[in-house]
Amino acid sequence: MTDAQNTPKIQPFHAPKGVPDYVPPASADFHAVRSTFEKVIHDSGYGHIELPVFEETALFARGVGESTDVVSKEMYTFEDRGGRSVTLRPEGTAGVMRAVIEHNLDRGQLPVKLTYSGPFFRYERPQAGRYRQLQQVGVEAIGVDDPALDAEVVALADRCYRALGLSGYRLELTSLGDETCRPQYRQKLQDFLFALPLDEETRKRAELNPLRVLDDKRPEVQEMLADAPLMPDHLSAEAREHFETVTGLLDDMGVEYTLNPRLVRGLDYYTKTCFEFVHDGLGAQSGIGGGGRYDGLMAQLGGQDLSGIGFGLGVDRTILALQAEGVSPTTGRRVDVYGVPMGVEAKKTLAVIVDHLRRAGVSTDMSYGDRGLKGAMKGADRAGALFALVLGEQELADGTVVLRDLTTREQHEVALQDVVDTVRRALA
Ligand code: HAM
Repeated sequence: MTDAQNTPKIQPFHAPKGVPDYVPPASADFHAVRSTFEKVIHDSGYGHIELPVFEETALFARGVGESTDVVSKEMYTFEDRGGRSVTLRPEGTAGVMRAVIEHNLDRGQLPVKLTYSGPFFRYERPQAGRYRQLQQVGVEAIGVDDPALDAEVVALADRCYRALGLSGYRLELTSLGDETCRPQYRQKLQDFLFALPLDEETRKRAELNPLRVLDDKRPEVQEMLADAPLMPDHLSAEAREHFETVTGLLDDMGVEYTLNPRLVRGLDYYTKTCFEFVHDGLGAQSGIGGGGRYDGLMAQLGGQDLSGIGFGLGVDRTILALQAEGVSPTTGRRVDVYGVPMGVEAKKTLAVIVDHLRRAGVSTDMSYGDRGLKGAMKGADRAGALFALVLGEQELADGTVVLRDLTTREQHEVALQDVVDTVRRALA
């Protein structure tokens, strides 16, 4: 028996359940979506903030709300080796507020406009479009309670999707009221709900977070809720004026929206303007992004009593939405130029030419190993290259290289010392 036969077979590892990998070629879409969002957001004056992936557990319990599913059922919480309870961040807003307070960013120019991107963690039941590690690009604009800022934030999210060529989504909008009208409305809704023949669990929810009951998907419950009091009918004069200014500005900006008085978000901190982007091509997980104003959050986390508004755009679901619409955010081109060497000496020469092209800012790759002409040309094809540089023994002896246009299939010889200039001209 050989050693190899004696060794027990090692089972390959898998990524944890519900945790996606992003590998080529599909990862190009992931990168394109995230960088398009980031570019559009930076162009509106938001500065980058890079946050820890885990925080003290109490930050999320206090910030996001104990009664939310996110905190009560979905957090990745564990004790570190020092006995502290820490949690993988389920969302970005609480961490941003913590950092703003900790670094006194709210003592300078207001609003503080920040943007972040990265992974978030929720222990949800995995299915298409619902992962345990999800990717968001988000913004938070903190410190000014100005409806013009609400309009900026909502319009910015809309522009992020448009920049990708996405069009088949709906922007749903409502106001969740402020500290004067919200408690009264909550009481009114609870009175209504407690008079219904609700099951035990729903009743409990009505006690803890009555607004969440409005979001119940069961048709028999929805039927009972037909006459439920709705927040937009019970807004204070101030909250109403705020919301009307926001919708007026969105109208003037040409941002289309639908008023949804039953819109409920899964996090507790929202007040006033609240919104969600919904795509119908995704099945059950239709929310591709959402956000809203959170006027009490900073004070609740021990900071000044300043307001804020922001959003989180789901990168994973945006990719699925693009696929559902048949829109690609990428060109499918990994590099513009691909080197195809025939033989050891040709490879050495071509490696240097490829290096010169890269220094000149031309995106270039080449074939490695001994792949032969056919295999190497396949590599050029896979890379989506526009041009191939083919260097064989004869060209090497002549001090030339063949520049082949991979679209038209035309080709001609170029002197080695002219390659960089010629390729740049051809690409221009
Ligand atoms: P959220 O609505 O919980 O808001 O998440 C934002 C987006 O993240 C969702 O619309 C969805 O596209 C994506 N998402 C959430 N959970 C999952 C999941 N399990 N799998 C895949 N995608 C998911 C927030 O997180 C707030 N922090 C947004 C915000 C910022 N509000 C104010 N400022």
